Amino acid sequence: MSVKQIAILFSGEGSNMEVLIKKLHQKRFDDFEVEVVAAITNKPDAKGIKKADDLGIDVIMIDHKSYDSREAFDMKLVETLQDLDVDLTILAGFMRILTPVFTDTIKAINIHPALLPLYKGADALKRSFEGKETTAGVTAHLVVSEVDGGEMVLQKSFDKTGMDFDTFEEKIHACEHEIFPKAVIKVLQNLH
Ligand code: GAR
Repeated sequence: MSVKQIAILFSGEGSNMEVLIKKLHQKRFDDFEVEVVAAITNKPDAKGIKKADDLGIDVIMIDHKSYDSREAFDMKLVETLQDLDVDLTILAGFMRILTPVFTDTIKAINIHPALLPLYKGADALKRSFEGKETTAGVTAHLVVSEVDGGEMVLQKSFDKTGMDFDTFEEKIHACEHEIFPKAVIKVLQNLH
């Protein structure tokens, strides 16, 4: 049985990271097992650090403020992921725009709190809440150099009619936690 190695990048709360570790780490799927080899953050005060620690996952700190350019930061990420021999990199609330230094080299999947191609980019959750559509949702997609522009892997939508912001936010996170682990497995199953 083969082992597929993943690393999870996060910047804040880390709720998606926590769910991914609990649902995937050292679990068996078809003919492979998943190993979360590290959680990587760019934020020294990220709340998710404790969550990863508590689950026994090594946390690597790469503070973007220590680098002179986006490219230099991305190169450090690439080198770290290559040293870890990662098969798939997971962006779980990783709030950095990535340059082609990263996107041309690293196979990665991201979770976005909107129904792409609607509401690409920053503040998507708030903009989706305020948008005129009655349907909202979340998207797991592959990462390319265009921000939130890669191939969709899975989406989940819901009717947001009558929801206040807190209920909407909770629903978005519940949808993310439901589809993101499934989307990661789907991509891993298709890796050669
Ligand atoms: C999630 O809602 C995720 O979709 C969003 O950040 C949140 C992280 O929450 N990501 C983006 O907006 C990326 N553009 P978490 O830290 O609790 O997983």
